[in-house]
Amino acid sequence: MADLKQLTEQFLTLFGGEADGIRYYQAPGRVNLIGEHTDYNGGYVFPAALTFGTTLLLRPRGDRVLKMASTNFPNTLGEVSLDSIEYREEDDWMNYPKGVVKELQNRGRGPAAGYDFLYHGEIPNGAGLSSSASIEVLTGYALLSEGGHPVDRTELALISQKSENEFNGVQCGIMDQFAVANGKKDQAILLMCDTLEYRHVPFQSEDYVLVIGNTNKRRGLVDSKYNERRSECEQAVQELKGAYPELTLLGQLTPEQFHAECERIESDTVRRRALHVVDEIDRVLQSVAVLEKGDLESFGKLMNASHDSLRDLYEVTGKELDAMVEAARKVPGVLGSRMTGAGFGGCTVSLVHKDSVDRFREQVAAEYTEATGLVPDFYVCSIGDGASRLDSPAQP
Ligand code: GLA
Repeated sequence: MADLKQLTEQFLTLFGGEADGIRYYQAPGRVNLIGEHTDYNGGYVFPAALTFGTTLLLRPRGDRVLKMASTNFPNTLGEVSLDSIEYREEDDWMNYPKGVVKELQNRGRGPAAGYDFLYHGEIPNGAGLSSSASIEVLTGYALLSEGGHPVDRTELALISQKSENEFNGVQCGIMDQFAVANGKKDQAILLMCDTLEYRHVPFQSEDYVLVIGNTNKRRGLVDSKYNERRSECEQAVQELKGAYPELTLLGQLTPEQFHAECERIESDTVRRRALHVVDEIDRVLQSVAVLEKGDLESFGKLMNASHDSLRDLYEVTGKELDAMVEAARKVPGVLGSRMTGAGFGGCTVSLVHKDSVDRFREQVAAEYTEATGLVPDFYVCSIGDGASRLDSPAQP
């Protein structure tokens, strides 16, 4: 949890004035438990919000200027007029909040006046824990609340995703923004990405914890490979239309329907991509069913199957994620381990007995460093709430 008093001091040093008018908001990061590369195929995902993320301090100004700073990039202070919000490469991370402001304006709910903004991020950048979705949802939530507009969390996720797709040119699906907007303490979210129907599913155990392992490998190829996978899935849909003329997304097929007609897909690579998607969606539903019976062991096996499919069929893991998962699975007390997020670096998530966590950290770190030369980080993960307003810290 961020230290709000200290952040208040930083805010006053940057922007001057009084602490009185400052308001405080937070939005989490997310981890996806299972259901990877299924969101843009209209399938199921099963993410959860984290207990750490991004904090925003804001204070209204009398003019039409937004001033933005971040404790993560101490030497940048951005300034933009509400009347000319454009993408500019040199604005770097500020393009995320700017994109959301622009999208709110497009919907007739942009801020009536300017603000001073101070962001404080606790999510490692580029780790695949959705630091950008956290900033977007946070900005949208705060500005809608400030403007006195009701916050519909599904719409908030869509606003944030649209700003990332259109303003920032990143073709992500809806999962990250949805999880950040709709998170609930100790609950994961079963989301159908085609219809956006969802429900919370309790995810709590006396004996087992989720451990996130950061490979600290930057996700280099992620954007180009991500878009390539999306087109491969679209290609599979085109070829399956011969059998299913109404088909628009792979997520509309059951595994049986897919297997009956998959030979229509000419390229072996495209067929393997589609097979991952169809089976992964099925694994999400199986996961929820076993978890609702309290069967963590079966869930662990599904996590393993998910990773193996992402490695062999979808080919989005890479040396670092595979090495970390392999090391994790050797530790006694680990029920399952997989990559989480887009892949090509970033993080793994493992289901670990609470008495094995210390051994897990030591053994996985040693084997992983031996295999890759990189030093990993681990976080025992608790599941937290979605975006919210925070109480002001007590004044000294
Ligand atoms: C990234 C994207 C999500 C989703 C995952 C893969 O996190 O932002 O929309 O596609 O990759 O499951």
